[in-house]
Amino acid sequence: MSGKPHHHPRSDAHNDPLDKLGHTRGHPPHGVQQGVASHSAVSASPEWQALAAHQRSQRGTHMRDLFAADPQRAQRHAIEAGPLFIDYSKHRITDETLTLLQRLAQARDVAGWRARMLAGEAINTSESRAALHVALRGSGPALAQAEARAALEHMRTLSAAIRSGAWKGVTGKPFTDIIHIGIGGSDLGPRLAVQALAAPLAPGNAPRTYFAANIDPHELDDALRLCDPASTLVIVISKSFSTAETLLNARHARDWLRAGLGADVGAHLTAVTNNTAAAAQFGVAADQILSMPEWAGGRFSLWSTAGLSILLTLGSETFDALLAGAAEIDRHFIETPFERNAPVLMALLSVWYGNFWDAQIHAVLPYSKRLELLPDYLQQLEMESNGKRIDRQGKPVTHATAPVIFGGTGANSQHSFHQLFHQGTHLVPSDFVVTAPTGDARSRMLAVNAVAQTAALMSGDADDPVGTPGNQPSTTILLPALNPRTLGALLALYEHKVFVEGVLWNINSFDQPGVELGKRIATALLPSPGAASPPAMDSSTRALMHRLGGT
Ligand code: F6P
Repeated sequence: MSGKPHHHPRSDAHNDPLDKLGHTRGHPPHGVQQGVASHSAVSASPEWQALAAHQRSQRGTHMRDLFAADPQRAQRHAIEAGPLFIDYSKHRITDETLTLLQRLAQARDVAGWRARMLAGEAINTSESRAALHVALRGSGPALAQAEARAALEHMRTLSAAIRSGAWKGVTGKPFTDIIHIGIGGSDLGPRLAVQALAAPLAPGNAPRTYFAANIDPHELDDALRLCDPASTLVIVISKSFSTAETLLNARHARDWLRAGLGADVGAHLTAVTNNTAAAAQFGVAADQILSMPEWAGGRFSLWSTAGLSILLTLGSETFDALLAGAAEIDRHFIETPFERNAPVLMALLSVWYGNFWDAQIHAVLPYSKRLELLPDYLQQLEMESNGKRIDRQGKPVTHATAPVIFGGTGANSQHSFHQLFHQGTHLVPSDFVVTAPTGDARSRMLAVNAVAQTAALMSGDADDPVGTPGNQPSTTILLPALNPRTLGALLALYEHKVFVEGVLWNINSFDQPGVELGKRIATALLPSPGAASPPAMDSSTRALMHRLGGT
């Protein structure tokens, strides 16, 4: 920003970048039929219509003006939730916006659905399951909490035996290396937690953990190459114990163990699953199978026995602090009035941009190398939970649902894709996840860059109001430090945000039927890699399969 006086011509240039392009508003999302819904569609409600009218009245408003009009804006739009400080002032919101959004939350009975979730009702209706990840952190029905405690006790016993050397490999060596085989929710949470916390917190004698999720041979082979079978423990994490990539990787790892140790490799195999029979059939000894509760979705499961590799690598104190951080946010979500409730506000802001400003993208920008997996984790949490087009009544939605979540690590992202945020044509709300600077000048530069980006995105460039209009909204989530407690709080914050979004959109956030078709087609094609005519597929697929040949 130059030193020139900030004269802001009252032109459309300050409006939403898309206005200049004549972008049509409110067009039905991709493939969703416009028209009168045959049931009381969420978007037909008076609260929804009031927000649509309000958005139209806000099109000429620039956040810069909102800040200029209210010196207390930043203070009024900030929340302390557990160890987190959340600044949501750099948003296109006025007091009226917030009032109308809260009315939508009331109309959608968010409080009622929260109560149903906490009571353990089968709100995952398509699978007739509860969604009780909070029971892993001490909330929810006593029975579920007891089940969680029992499973965690079993996990602690296994971990203590492994870490103490009481449980050794078949040649008598203690385990120094862990191979964690799992994918999706059976990989991303544990991998994120270990990557975020291992460097500062893994005790010297902790085993090294390698994650293998992809069926690309390189991921598992690159890990096995570094390990000695005699001191390697393989953990197979699969809630269903039927995920093709995980099972093929697990068979490969078991063969690797057998090649190195002979037939009896049982001491080197553990499993974490809700399908203990399948795990036993795979060859895992019964007392080396940890049970995952059926009421914790995979993408909500790192707090459960799926977190075995976190416990093995980081120890009990760290694992418990992770759970405690999440529990603080659970209590915040359960106890705080919606006007000051961080996950509720984040969900309402997501609806505000996605459903009333046609924003189809949401960016997650952790300014932290150790949190570089956060966007990947949140892609599954948000997009697998709310990437839905059928509502709870089985009808097509008449509004947009989850945006595309993408992100990258700041400050690198500034030198990669922030150009689009500043001068592109898309409205991209973003979350900046920032840790308070340590004494190191580099960490200060990192944090200051994050704040500077949020300022630039909000204000735009007064010397270039058309090319750099600003008015790009962002939430800043400030962690006092990156530690197990703040990581647990951060991830729980997003879990509850995703839950509230699903309630607002009237969709089931806890199933994922959309992933099955691709699996079925892959299963049908796999046996005939080079077949001239695989099952009745389109000509492109047939030609591509033919090119894959018989390899
Ligand atoms: O295919 C999607 C999915 O089922 C995710 O929901 C899940 O986290 C992942 O695959 C792995 O599933 P599992 O833990 O059953 O192997």
